[in-house]
Amino acid sequence: MQNTELPVALKQFVNEMDALLNTVSDESILHLNVGDAMAKLVAKDDWLDPAFSLPHPQYYQQYLLYADPDERYSVVSFVWGPGQQTPIHDHTVWGVVGMLRGEEISQNYQIAADGMPSPTGEAILLTPGKIALVSPALGDVHAVRNALDDQVSISIHVYGGNIGKIKRHVFSQQGGLPKDFISGYSNIEIVSE
Ligand code: FE2
Repeated sequence: MQNTELPVALKQFVNEMDALLNTVSDESILHLNVGDAMAKLVAKDDWLDPAFSLPHPQYYQQYLLYADPDERYSVVSFVWGPGQQTPIHDHTVWGVVGMLRGEEISQNYQIAADGMPSPTGEAILLTPGKIALVSPALGDVHAVRNALDDQVSISIHVYGGNIGKIKRHVFSQQGGLPKDFISGYSNIEIVSE
């Protein structure tokens, strides 16, 4: 996946990401700037390779679109079949979600000492062109679902690391200890080093 093979809009985003990471060291400022770059990327839905927009009948799909060679960030298309949803999970690194097609709903959670999750704040509806930020600093635990029961939805995600390789957590609705998980990618086999 060479930078030169990327669709123009994604290449511009990657170039912008590289410039930001080389110049902005404060994470909160970087995060906002990445949000602005993501808003530009999802402003137009005309660039995503159809191969990375395919839903699976059972599972939501996460296609790696670009991985920074230094693993400072990764870009993923998140493809929801009708009615699909994530478990309650965290990320452990900053992330930005940009809605490209369809709609998704994100609900943040807080986790009590006994591991019991409870919703915090209102559920957020993302419509095309809208972005949302997640991070350990801002609130890192949420569950996300396709807001549409009869249609595929697609959001583009960028994370502050190689998200497919990062060990993170899912939280049971019944409480208890979080479970470790590594999401991987639907199109790339992660080879552990
Ligand atoms: Fe998430």
